[in-house]
Amino acid sequence: MRQDQRPYWVKKTYLSFRSWYTQHFLKPACDFLGDYPTFMKPWYISISGPNIEIGHCATVIGEPENRVKIGVWGKDEHSGRIKIGDYVLISPGTRISAASEIVIGDSVMIANGVYITDSDWHKMYDRASRSTDVTPVHIGNNVWLGDRCTVLKGVSIGDNSVVAACAVVSRDVPPNVVVAGNPAVVVKELDVNRPMQTRADYFADPVGQAKFFDGVDRMVLQKNGFFRWLRILFKPSNTD
Ligand SMILES: CC(C)(COP(=O)(O)OP(=O)(O)OC[C@H]1O[C@@H](n2cnc3c(N)ncnc32)[C@H](O)[C@@H]1OP(=O)(O)O)[C@@H](O)C(=O)NCCC(=O)NCCS
Repeated sequence: MRQDQRPYWVKKTYLSFRSWYTQHFLKPACDFLGDYPTFMKPWYISISGPNIEIGHCATVIGEPENRVKIGVWGKDEHSGRIKIGDYVLISPGTRISAASEIVIGDSVMIANGVYITDSDWHKMYDRASRSTDVTPVHIGNNVWLGDRCTVLKGVSIGDNSVVAACAVVSRDVPPNVVVAGNPAVVVKELDVNRPMQTRADYFADPVGQAKFFDGVDRMVLQKNGFFRWLRILFKPSNTD
């Protein structure tokens, strides 16, 4: 089945349910969740612990084999925090684990399987105890974290910088550079004079954007009949 065979109203109902699930289960798990969140398959997204804020227009994508996990596990019940800015993209398999503080700026793009942590979680010579060596992580605006990269404790990443796929970032990264490798080092400087489109631009008019996508769905899916969709659900073929 290569096309979306759902009738328009089935997709609308699904999107309404998805939105209800986000508001009912995930919003209460945050201290703050901004307007216009798009949480895809939100039942595969877990948010746990205190002091978690996620800004406006967040896009978070859960997948059954790649859950998103955003969690604060502070030294005591109310400590530790995660603050995520506006327009952020969080892809499947991302883990953001804070013992003290992780701050993520606006328009940050986080690719699949990224791990961000502000602690080693265990002590070097006392493996049974929890590490007390926790240092905040700050990720600037419009940073792009590539597929399966890791950002370790104490790291600050400057605005607009890019972390290449699979890089391990253990030291601070200046703004407007590309870093790669393990440990990550600067491999390229970005041209700061070139205009850059960001997710903030993409979400400049979230209401208009939602209407546009709804119009596209209506146009593309209106030809799909309910009984044909049911038949394809139970007996799909490669011509569907
Ligand atoms: C970061 C990235 C976008 C940079 O692309 P680019 O500007 O075309 O970079 P280049 O290919 O010119 O690489 C510059 C140098 O870094 C090295 N490099 C690039 N990516 C690397 C990586 N992931 N690991 C190690 N080295 C890497 C290149 O070998 C090159 O080294 P050299 O100058 O010695 O030849 C790209 O390397 C990358 O990681 N892409 C994956 C993005 C991603 O995860 N997308 C998922 C969807 S959000």
